[in-house]
Amino acid sequence: MDTRTSPAAPPKTIRREDYRQPDWIVPDVALDFDLGAERTVVRARLEVRRQAPAPLVLDGDGLVPVAVRVDGQATEAWRLDGGALVLDLPGDAHVVETEVALSPQTNTQLMGLYASGGLLCTQCEAEGFRRITFFPDRPDVLSRYRVRLVADKARYPVLLSNGDLVGSGDLDDGRHFAEWHDPFPKPSYLFAAVAGDLAERRDSFTTASGRTVQLGIWTRAEDRPRTAHAMESLKLSMAWDERVYGREYDLGIFNIVAVNDFNFGAMENKGLNIFNTRYILADPDEATDSDYDGIAAVVAHEYFHNWSGNRVTCRDWFQLSLKEGFTVFRDQGFSADLGSPAVRRIEDVRALRATQFPEDAGPLAHPVRPESYMEISNFYTATIYNKGAELIRMIHTLVGPGRFRQGSDLYFERHDGEAATCEDFVVAMEVGAQVDLTAFRRWYGQAGTPRVEARIARVEDGTVSLALRQSTPPTPGQPDKSPVPIPLRTALFDRASGARLAEQLVLLEDAEATVALGRAPGDVALSINRGFSAPIVLVADRATDELAFLAAHDDDPFARYEAVQGLMLEALVDRVASGDAGGAADAAVDAVGAMLADPALDDAFVAEAALLPSESFIGDQMLVVEPLAIHDAREWLRARIGRAHLAAWRERQERGANQPFAYTPEAKGRRRLRGVALAYLLAARDTDAAARALDQFQRADNMTDRFSALSALVGSDAAERETALDAFRVRHGGSPLVLDKWFGVQAGSSRSDTLETVVRLSRDPDFTLANPNRARALIGGFGANQLALHDDGGAGYRFLADQILQLDRLNPQTAARLVPPLGRWRRFGEARAAAMRAQLERMLRTPGLSRDLYEQVFRSID
Ligand code: PHE
Ligand code: ZN
Repeated sequence: MDTRTSPAAPPKTIRREDYRQPDWIVPDVALDFDLGAERTVVRARLEVRRQAPAPLVLDGDGLVPVAVRVDGQATEAWRLDGGALVLDLPGDAHVVETEVALSPQTNTQLMGLYASGGLLCTQCEAEGFRRITFFPDRPDVLSRYRVRLVADKARYPVLLSNGDLVGSGDLDDGRHFAEWHDPFPKPSYLFAAVAGDLAERRDSFTTASGRTVQLGIWTRAEDRPRTAHAMESLKLSMAWDERVYGREYDLGIFNIVAVNDFNFGAMENKGLNIFNTRYILADPDEATDSDYDGIAAVVAHEYFHNWSGNRVTCRDWFQLSLKEGFTVFRDQGFSADLGSPAVRRIEDVRALRATQFPEDAGPLAHPVRPESYMEISNFYTATIYNKGAELIRMIHTLVGPGRFRQGSDLYFERHDGEAATCEDFVVAMEVGAQVDLTAFRRWYGQAGTPRVEARIARVEDGTVSLALRQSTPPTPGQPDKSPVPIPLRTALFDRASGARLAEQLVLLEDAEATVALGRAPGDVALSINRGFSAPIVLVADRATDELAFLAAHDDDPFARYEAVQGLMLEALVDRVASGDAGGAADAAVDAVGAMLADPALDDAFVAEAALLPSESFIGDQMLVVEPLAIHDAREWLRARIGRAHLAAWRERQERGANQPFAYTPEAKGRRRLRGVALAYLLAARDTDAAARALDQFQRADNMTDRFSALSALVGSDAAERETALDAFRVRHGGSPLVLDKWFGVQAGSSRSDTLETVVRLSRDPDFTLANPNRARALIGGFGANQLALHDDGGAGYRFLADQILQLDRLNPQTAARLVPPLGRWRRFGEARAAAMRAQLERMLRTPGLSRDLYEQVFRSID
């Protein structure tokens, strides 16, 4: 089917309120694949059962039926309707067989069955299965799958699908086959098959009840040594889900396949996860510590989906956060337990503010449970994932871990084997955790980030009271907002002694409230939204010296981090507004110095807290974003913090530099702080900073130190920059994932020639839009570069739009995900806004846009 749109025929909108149960279900399906890169033939045998008096509609996308049979008889009594195969069937139960031919080699969308680096693999979520065979491709149709794969044995010696291997053997003409049976009914989006010349890292895991699970991670043979960390992460995830959620794995086999070309991070297909190589492959020479963390988190995430997603799936795609928000919350808990919970929370909140807050404040804002979409692929968003996880976290905070577990137990028990809704989850929590979530439900339906104003006042008898007020700005389609229940972990500190006076969980339910916090004789400091207990923007009326006090004394590490960030933000905003930075800059400088001097703080925390707020987050605090002024202010503050603590930065950059690589929390923290220190030294224009960076780059025995040195150098004019960039490419040019870093780091550079560089790199023989990782590294990296994108009279916008349009021809999903930076046009001054909008309009006028891109651009213009 041609899903390409024209302005005359915009895509149709799907609405949540239109949900209807399926007219037909398919309890059993058998699939037969005759695999080849150029041509694959798929034969499907569906046992269909009527649920309503309606024709059988089998979704299809780009499929042409070669043959159709009903109850064993060939039939011509079918029609195609918008790609779907429609059959009027007489009875209530039939066997429908279809045959189609596919061309995996030319599938550049990476949805359905496609070729990647000599492999054949599938991606079905959300609606890719209909590109493989005719089927009711919706998550509330659950089927048992039997899959037979046939392929050339030399080219595709490994044949994998979901479930258990029930047969295999050789055929004539050098071909062979494998048969897989998945006993757990599943929706079509969880189907997967892989064929290729793959090497396996094999291991096993014994579950709590004593069953042995065979674990396999499959890659190209040369990548096999780099799968140890992923395997370790998998086993830790399996044990964690048993311990924390009481969830055991349910099949005899759990396989993971890593592929080069993948639209997302990874996919939780039942018993056969398929991963972007970037979230599997790691060794110290090629992956940074944050890559290692990403691998552990994504391996855990996909594994956890086996319960939160697969055993209990989603009724329809409006319920996507049911599995994604919950599963992100689960992987965040896993990562927190693995390392430092405080640092992990800081990282999660930084990611939320970098991606979700802007989304919630812009034209693409939507509720965690959306009301409508044109293309569901556009709704795999930070709101569904990260804000969704914050909703689950708030419930967890409200009821505590014990009752939360009772709620999750009840949820899994009630809905095992079903396609459920967000409402089902909330009800299970209400019953299992004994809590009334009537008002809380509003969080699911209302878009936008609530703003909470907080002010403390002293009442006559020495009682301190907290005045709170909440409001949520309007979002597209939702002009008026209601108050939502907001759990705020709050504490007071005595300014004189530094002692904490009281801590409580304040629940703000109404638009306004005043809460008594307790009696305090002297001056107090207010610590609020500790641990980021609610995903809100806090506007607390706190003086610089109060923030400085909290930066030094708050015993909640997250709140302490927030206080330091608050000082930095205040300094930066003042600097941009008036060229002056008041006392906040001095206080920020001192706060960083005090942390560097505090032996009780671990390096990873100091590194996080010393990091300046990003340019885009600074911009979010302003009425009109001025990218250049923001950049200059940030560099100015960075140089001040750098110069004020030169000796400490040098010492932190050198500390432990001669020790061989170790993957321990201490060593990771040291490396993290080393990178931050180096950036401060360069900003301070310390005389030997560039040489020092190059030295770190050259001597590093690991990617973390090498890459932090390269990142620090890439924005400079020093000769060392070219030396490092060239050496990096020579050393790592053969490794696609590392080459992505090389492209990405240049796209993120603050140099004034960045646009030129990116244009040149887009013509580099190693650049291709066909690989999503590469496209995201260069084009996505450029789109995220506030300074370069908004520089230079709109040339950056034009370049970005050109690339998006080109990519849309190949891969609509990945193209559509590059639009948001242009959609922020309202936040900029007139000239920039007009130039950005002009590019959106140009895109919308382009004939033959994909549905994906059309929707993103259309919504961004309004
Ligand atoms: N469901 C996947 C995850 O979150 C993400 C994904 C969506 C992957 C669509 C591919 C396609 O784990
Ligand atoms: Zn997920």
